[in-house]
Amino acid sequence: MTRARKPLRSAAWFGKLDKDGFAHRSWMKTQGLPHHLFDGRPVIGICNTFSELTPCNAHFRELAEHVKRGVYEAGGFPLEFPVMSLGESNLRPTAMLFRNLAAMDVEESIRGNPIDGVVLLAGCDKTTPSLLMGAASCDLPAIMVSGGPMLNGRFRNETIGSGTVVWKFSEDVRAGDMRLDDFLEAEASMSRSAGSCMTMGTASTMASMAEALGVTLPTNAAIPAVDARRSVLAHMSGRRIVGMVREDLRLSRILTRKAFENAIRVNAAIGGSTNAVIHLLAIAGRIGVDLSLDDWDRIGGDVPCLVNLMPSGKYLMEDFYYAGGLPQVMNELGNMLHRDAPTVSGRAVGDNIAGAVCYNREVIFPADRPFKPQGGVAVLRGNLAPNGAIIKPSAATPALMKHRGRAVVFEDIEHYKARVDDPALDIDETCVMVLKNCGPKGYPGMAEVGNMGLPAKILRKGVRDMVRISDARMSGTAYGTVVLHVAPEAAAGGPLALVRDGDMIELDVAARRLHLDASAAELKRRMAAWTPPVPAMASGYQALYVDRVLQADRGCDFDFLVGMRGAAVPRESH
Ligand code: FES
Repeated sequence: MTRARKPLRSAAWFGKLDKDGFAHRSWMKTQGLPHHLFDGRPVIGICNTFSELTPCNAHFRELAEHVKRGVYEAGGFPLEFPVMSLGESNLRPTAMLFRNLAAMDVEESIRGNPIDGVVLLAGCDKTTPSLLMGAASCDLPAIMVSGGPMLNGRFRNETIGSGTVVWKFSEDVRAGDMRLDDFLEAEASMSRSAGSCMTMGTASTMASMAEALGVTLPTNAAIPAVDARRSVLAHMSGRRIVGMVREDLRLSRILTRKAFENAIRVNAAIGGSTNAVIHLLAIAGRIGVDLSLDDWDRIGGDVPCLVNLMPSGKYLMEDFYYAGGLPQVMNELGNMLHRDAPTVSGRAVGDNIAGAVCYNREVIFPADRPFKPQGGVAVLRGNLAPNGAIIKPSAATPALMKHRGRAVVFEDIEHYKARVDDPALDIDETCVMVLKNCGPKGYPGMAEVGNMGLPAKILRKGVRDMVRISDARMSGTAYGTVVLHVAPEAAAGGPLALVRDGDMIELDVAARRLHLDASAAELKRRMAAWTPPVPAMASGYQALYVDRVLQADRGCDFDFLVGMRGAAVPRESH
């Protein structure tokens, strides 16, 4: 075994030949660990978000075993530990409420333990940002392994994607066009293997972001969860982290400004989820990179969408992998990427993707003949969103990108649900639907309700899209002319709180403008009469969250968690 060149962090625990060292080693030996493992080899933490309540990550025990093989093979000492797992399909009121809590768990678990480097096992939407945020604040060598997407959904010889068919089938049942037995069979047909949602929703987007940032080995984003090559990737990541510890290749050397600019461009090229905007802002804040909301428009606004995947296209992640996966998309972007950006592989981005080949032009389009001309997000400003709001033009209806309409206001999600299908609701397809109090503080946790469904009476006319505005997020599997992440949010006293039924609102995406047709004096008068909503919980974690969460334009981190704190812990535990 080759010893590390400089004293390892773990030596402060296991390298001591005194009472403290005895205690640190002795209790570890209850696990049947032989003494030679404590001889100064790199200790590799495997940060595992396994949970049977996070079905997308339920295969992570096996994945961790493959990581361990690689760590042992390279002369390291792997130790697996659990952290809070966030499952999008079960967690209430929304998994996003707990992203920062999980990130705190990750940060403190890494810092407090005898770990020299860490492998981050992430899958379902929020586990990727929470692990990267926590690890970034510690700044040890870290490599991420994603759990991978499910196999394509197949229902009666039809390919179906995660999420997107749920709405369609449930509507079919309500309309009497689908039997309940068939509906239940469709459930099992959609999610038929281990893995995360296999559309280009938030989980696949964030796995792609991790690869684009350079914190995973190449091909990480798209290998199906059950493909043996996913196990090989885990094995190789286990091998690589040991080398990273020896090279002292810490996250701050990977997560540079160039890495974030690459990720923003890749997000546009894959038609990625709007949720990536918030998560990357939060990760950048942890590692100390000055990234702003406007960077998303400035850097990614003109990047074409190259990937024909649901929800904006036809194919699924399995097809994406067979077509060449993310390395090929990055290759197509050519000099739009910083090819010299370092990655965890030890090579630059350009070297990682140099041999990429496209095997299916129906899935990955060339940059000079893109799938859609514009894939990024547009950042809107105006008196309705002084600190910004976003819209995904590729998911919007072109005719609605410049629109002036009468506001129909829903004060919160319950008001929306109670009112949207009221036959007496004064609304038509030219109106602008406004949803308040669904932002970080208001929901709390900024739920994915921004793409609120249209009123039934408008749907019956065959209309499928209207301008919608809110301080909420939307699912990565959703689409429409939906303005999201309005900042400041209504519950924080943003101008969104002041909109009333009948106000006129102007959206002009080309001019990046979101305007409420009301004078400053009128808005001041309304603000004087405004009272903030009463939080649902006066104590506990939710109260802390509402008190300290930052707005969407700053990534919704807690104000006291922003920044890198390093991994030093000067005091012994005994
Ligand atoms: Fe976990 Fe979609 S529910 S990735």
